[in-house]
Amino acid sequence: MTSEDFDPNRIRKDFPALDQTVNGKPLVYLDNAATSQKPRRVLDAIHNYYEQDNANVHRGIHELSRRATVAYEEAREKVAGWINASDPSECVWTRGTTEAINLVSVAWGLDHVGEGDEILISVMEHHSNIVPWQILAARTKAKLRYIEIDDDGRLVLDDLGSLLNERTKVVAISHVSNSLGTINPVKEITEAAHAVGAVVMIDGAQGAVHTKVDVQDLDCDFYAFGGHKMCGPTGIGVLWGRKELLEVMSPFQGGGEMIHIVERDQSSWARVPNKFEAGTPNIVGAVGMGAAVDYLNDIGIERIEAHEREIMTYALQQLGEVPGVKIYGPKSVDEHSAVISFTMGDAHPHDISTILDMEGVAVRAGHHCAQLVMKHFDVSATARASFYLYSTKEDVDRLVAGLDQVAAIFN
Ligand code: ALA
Repeated sequence: MTSEDFDPNRIRKDFPALDQTVNGKPLVYLDNAATSQKPRRVLDAIHNYYEQDNANVHRGIHELSRRATVAYEEAREKVAGWINASDPSECVWTRGTTEAINLVSVAWGLDHVGEGDEILISVMEHHSNIVPWQILAARTKAKLRYIEIDDDGRLVLDDLGSLLNERTKVVAISHVSNSLGTINPVKEITEAAHAVGAVVMIDGAQGAVHTKVDVQDLDCDFYAFGGHKMCGPTGIGVLWGRKELLEVMSPFQGGGEMIHIVERDQSSWARVPNKFEAGTPNIVGAVGMGAAVDYLNDIGIERIEAHEREIMTYALQQLGEVPGVKIYGPKSVDEHSAVISFTMGDAHPHDISTILDMEGVAVRAGHHCAQLVMKHFDVSATARASFYLYSTKEDVDRLVAGLDQVAAIFN
């Protein structure tokens, strides 16, 4: 699949927020790994839902509640299709990727991990795929172990065999690193983890956004992703889990909607996925995420991926030629998703970001919620440019021109 017939300049017209000036310059938005901009179609879906269908779901026997419920459940079917889940009821709506990982660490972890058991994660993880497992390990007296990373920002998998054993209960790994852009071989890791009987949780916050995900093919046990990095609203995400695991798991939170029968001393639970959706859910978030999936499906994830690869090839080449720029992460574009983390000489990443902002170029600077990665590379922070379907080579040129300004100020 090539991106020949893919026109990011036409796509940009779908995103109102891209059409503005910042500090007197046309906006170049390169903070897509933090959150993407939203197309008109998603904004309209949110607006129309509130204007016409707004009601609570699964509760009222009236027309608006019926419509809201249909919209909410249709959105579930759309996100299930996005990751090729075999059954929409395997998709639990959550507040985002972070909540999905916390759900697994609590509702599955507390029942299945005990003293002396092992939890395997990696140094590359976002804090949201570290801290929940640290909490679980502390509560259960389990041992937290780490897959290391090499100096190209890739997982060191040569000794994976020695990190996995019959005590390993769960392996939690990111599909794509948010701080380095590394694409991880999650299918191979899943296979190795399953060979010792461990359950595999994949943090897909940066994965399902940029590449075709097929949870049946990956053969993992849980996959988490959120709406806001893939053109949808904030505050909505999905935990996909194998039905047989979700069915035996304890609830995550108690409340309305997640019960079957409530008695004085005990209650029984609703079926999956409602068992995990206590309280009034983020209905409009689900509707918006469903609209985002429709929008992306109309363009095609393969075409988006091919376009991003083209931009990344160009960006790696152009940034590689800027004096003083050091890029962290894999050198090969085949292993590198649409994120470039970099430093530039002695300029602090916050200063780089501030100077770029003066030029209308938005990048993120900081530790990117990946302090273990920063520690590995012995830096306190990096600047990070991240691309998406509407990014252009002109955006990369503006970034490079902005870095010339950084050089002029710091030299
Ligand atoms: N996790 C998001 C990022 O990497 C917020 O920027």
